Amino acid sequence: MTTSDVESTRRRSWAEPYRIKMVESITMTTREHREAAIADAGWNTFLLRAEDVYIDLLTDSGTNAMSDRQWGAMMMGDEAYAGSKSYYHLEAAMRDVYGYPELIPTHQGRGAEHILSQILIKPGDVVPGNMYFTTTRFHQERAGGTFVDVIIDEAHDPASLHPFKGNVDLKKFQSVIDEFGAERVPYISVETNVNLAGGQPVSMANLRATYDLCRQNGIYLMLDATRALENAWFIQQREAGYAAKSVREILLEICSLSDGATVSSKKDNLVNIGGFLALRDGELARKARGLLVAFEGLHTYGGMSGRDMEALAQGMREMVESDEHVHARVGQVEYLGNKLIDAEIPIVLPIGGHGVFLDARAILPHVAQEDLPAQALAAALYVDSGVRSMERGVVSAGRDPHTGENHLPKLELVRLTVPRRVYTQAHMDVVAESVIEVYEQRASIGGLRFTYEPDDLRFFLARFEPIG
Ligand code: F0G
Repeated sequence: MTTSDVESTRRRSWAEPYRIKMVESITMTTREHREAAIADAGWNTFLLRAEDVYIDLLTDSGTNAMSDRQWGAMMMGDEAYAGSKSYYHLEAAMRDVYGYPELIPTHQGRGAEHILSQILIKPGDVVPGNMYFTTTRFHQERAGGTFVDVIIDEAHDPASLHPFKGNVDLKKFQSVIDEFGAERVPYISVETNVNLAGGQPVSMANLRATYDLCRQNGIYLMLDATRALENAWFIQQREAGYAAKSVREILLEICSLSDGATVSSKKDNLVNIGGFLALRDGELARKARGLLVAFEGLHTYGGMSGRDMEALAQGMREMVESDEHVHARVGQVEYLGNKLIDAEIPIVLPIGGHGVFLDARAILPHVAQEDLPAQALAAALYVDSGVRSMERGVVSAGRDPHTGENHLPKLELVRLTVPRRVYTQAHMDVVAESVIEVYEQRASIGGLRFTYEPDDLRFFLARFEPIG
């Protein structure tokens, strides 16, 4: 590039590095229809029928649009039960993109979390992590472990502008080691671009320091690398020394500072289903494969078909092919977030990688946390416009398995999660207009109470009713 090329690039907006070849119709509904639909769904957006949704921002998980090359690759799927060619394609892609030697394919992320928890956690162990994720903590607890949050305090403050709110607080991690002894801490689980903190990254410097502390104490560092690509983008944008590195190089460096990773491929990897556990240690990988064949499938397919593995191998390569993919992906999320900031709507700052998180506490100060403000706000947004979002507050946090008390997280959020390569900027405009409308009517939104509360991962299937 010449200097004048660089200058002109700076004056230009980002745009998607692809064009649209196929479209899918979506339904527009009336307010009356949506009021009936949310009542039928027990005020839980997970229980709505997708056909009743206009713009679906429930999750960025498995909602990706695949490319022509991925659809083409699916035709080449080798459906052999054992030793499928597609498995070896996937293994080669994972080694190139993430750099781990051992691949254990699973049906999705939680399959990998289950196996990792079972091979490493003994009853009575303690598993530190940079904030919890619902399924991750569930599997740690099911294996007899106790999760301890060691994320920096700034992560719990929606207004803090810390550029790396996903960072591990090394003092908190050290005090877990001091209190329980390193032998009771099998691994620390470090999530990249921390989902429940609002899609907030970990810095390379923090990851390196955490890995050093792990090695001094004989503790494994296991990444949840589900959104590591988006984390790599933020490192390139925000951390000194990384501006000239590609996201591909940064992603490999992130993984080099760990002993393994669980990945839900339904996010960064641009597919609709799939996941994997990756490890460095061959002995641990053997143990993992022992469980894999019982719970997921043979070691050369896990829970995936041959065509799923082909689409995944291609998706993985595509996500790091050029930095423009992740630039446009995070750029679209920032576009939506900036519209809400301009309208002075309280959201988690800085704007995250996979979605915009509304601060339900600040929007509905008149609704007590026990009365589920984020759940109520998500329902109100759906009724206003047919935009589907998700609660990430007290309902998602669940109960302490020992005391039975509700976990009361500091963050009481509604997540507007943006699927990859699916919606246009005009859809984002409609979403922003609806959030602004609901914000203006906020005084009329009341709380909810449970009418059905499942024991585990309650947010998925719970039902509610309005209070009063
Ligand atoms: N880890 C993280 C950080 C996740 O966000 C998810 C899923 C998982 C693990 C589990 O993976 O769904 O493939 O079994 N998150 C989805 C979401 C469900 O909407 O945030 P999975």
